[in-house]
Amino acid sequence: MWYGGDYNPEQWPEAVWAEDVALMRRAGVNLVSVGVFAWARLEPEEGRYAFDWLDRVLELLADGGIRVALATPTASPPPWFGLAYPDALTVNRDGVRLTHGSRDTYCLSAPAYRAACVRIARELARRYAGHPALALWHVHNEYGTACYCDHAAAAFRAWLRARYGDLDRLNEAWSTAFWSQHYSAWEQVLPPRATQYLPNPAHLLDFRRFLSAELLAAFGEQKAVLRQATPDVPVTTNFAFGGWVPVDQWQWSREVDLVAIDDYPSESGGGAEEQTAFAADLARSWAGGRPWLLMESAPNIIYTVDLPNGPHPPSRRMHTKEPGRMLRHSLSHVARGSRGAMFFQWRAPRGGAEQWHAAMVPHAGPDSRVFREVCELGGLLARLGEAGVADSRVVAEVAVVWDPQAWWALQGSHTPHADMDYLAAVRDAHRVLWRRGVAVDFVHPEAGLSAYRMVVVPRLYLVSDRAAANLASYVENGGHLVVTYFSGIVDAACRVRLGGYPGAFRDLLGIRVEEFYPLPAGETVDLSTGDVGRMWCERVHLTGAEAVARYAGGVLDGLPAITRHRHGAGAAWYVSTELADEAYARVLDEAYARVRGAPEPPPTGVELVRRTGQDATWLFALNHTDQPRQVAATGVDLVSGEQVTGAVRLAPGGAAVIRTGAAAPPHT
Ligand code: GAL
Repeated sequence: MWYGGDYNPEQWPEAVWAEDVALMRRAGVNLVSVGVFAWARLEPEEGRYAFDWLDRVLELLADGGIRVALATPTASPPPWFGLAYPDALTVNRDGVRLTHGSRDTYCLSAPAYRAACVRIARELARRYAGHPALALWHVHNEYGTACYCDHAAAAFRAWLRARYGDLDRLNEAWSTAFWSQHYSAWEQVLPPRATQYLPNPAHLLDFRRFLSAELLAAFGEQKAVLRQATPDVPVTTNFAFGGWVPVDQWQWSREVDLVAIDDYPSESGGGAEEQTAFAADLARSWAGGRPWLLMESAPNIIYTVDLPNGPHPPSRRMHTKEPGRMLRHSLSHVARGSRGAMFFQWRAPRGGAEQWHAAMVPHAGPDSRVFREVCELGGLLARLGEAGVADSRVVAEVAVVWDPQAWWALQGSHTPHADMDYLAAVRDAHRVLWRRGVAVDFVHPEAGLSAYRMVVVPRLYLVSDRAAANLASYVENGGHLVVTYFSGIVDAACRVRLGGYPGAFRDLLGIRVEEFYPLPAGETVDLSTGDVGRMWCERVHLTGAEAVARYAGGVLDGLPAITRHRHGAGAAWYVSTELADEAYARVLDEAYARVRGAPEPPPTGVELVRRTGQDATWLFALNHTDQPRQVAATGVDLVSGEQVTGAVRLAPGGAAVIRTGAAAPPHT
């Protein structure tokens, strides 16, 4: 189990370093990410390297038994770089060239930037190959920066040429007959810079795809020089998550030796727990079920928006995590496969843009609640590590389809309802299953699905022909599929699939949707089940499916709202409106009950995750409420060290990790 965080000794006088190492040892820290933003200190002038300070840091850490995820500092080029290579600074959509002064100000396609990245990576690799502290390479930080400059334009065109071969195919794919956008020479093709009115959705989508590939190529160059110098040291980069991130994690996960994510829930209420579980399940799925690493999270205060019933506009306060919450969030990640818990950051800085960001050692110093909780978590992770939890796996029988390209497509299109967010739909499905205590994997729509008894497809707006065939054959072979509205609408080039919606799934679902009825905020439509739909409803015709629920009243009175279609050996459900969680849960329960029996939800507010190992199972029980809760379990609780027989009592906000199976190791 790795435990630690981003460590920025370059921000502190050397006198603090020895105290850092002593405190790290006290807290049980065994891995720190070093050098993430230290480029200016490592290469103070172009080509002049200053590694002596880093030598001393790594030596201190090695002497303290602390390993290092050594970063290449390329997320923050120093001021000299921008002055020497002004053409390598970011140009935004509006054509404004940005200046040094923050971080991530570069164009990933600028030759000077790419060369500078490879040089500093090579120097670091040469210097620290074989160093006893070096455990992992941490390349860059949160790849995701987009640029719209001429370098980006040239690289975009090269990518498009490779994808389409000739302009005719590009024109066809981008539907450029619309609004006279036909291209007659490659030079006319630009990144989607600011333009007068609605941009072309296919253009936007391909630019996102290009960025993902371009950023991955830049990562690959650094990885290659690190690999050459240190063939045995794994290489990773930390994935950021958010609507702005142009990274297809399915593709990237194949190129990193260890999937690593940063996780910053945006909500302060119960949504934070749901978001935590969501991020962790995504990470495990990107990693193909293998261990992954929570590279960053916040030990305490978090940026937050007050949702859903908070003030409008949301207040911009930060939220201080309640006692015990950091430990529960960390355990939620570990329960879902993380090889430990890492934070941003080790010591809270005095100055700089993130001077108010949480840290393991807060401004108050080690005599603080936060540091005491940091020490407690370190002790627990060490016990979990010794007991072998890292070798166990989460087994999920339900999968939710996740495709960032469908997200990008929906973001770029002027859809019939502006509130239709892809991420929200995927989170809804995950949240409903999470509350039912059902373990969930995420899957790419073209991936093998036979391991799952049920697959949920939330708002998969864009579907490739291959994905459509894959999902159909899953059902033909006995799978149970639940598809929600506005799925299967466009093809891989964002073109509507004609002949009735959802074009990709009509046969599979045994329905044909003739038209949509987007609803205004606050308006609902009644269903025959007594539930209501909101935001959206559709004129659905049955072409083989049966109606499970119908619209009641209004222009759609009596027409199907939720359907079920036997297809081959399986069944495919369709939900044509937006359901509240309880109604959604009933649909999923019913679909699930047919394949697995009714789910047994955990006590309200308790998160239960089971990990299965060769000779033991582990039950992670996290009580996210302020009331005591009880959970059936027998074994040794690694949190309290006590033997549990029949049931474990969870204190308000408390947690237990119960090991059952082979003789449990002694509690230390
Ligand atoms: C992460 C980033 C860190 C730090 C942190 C603050 O996205 O990698 O460097 O900025 O956010 O929450």
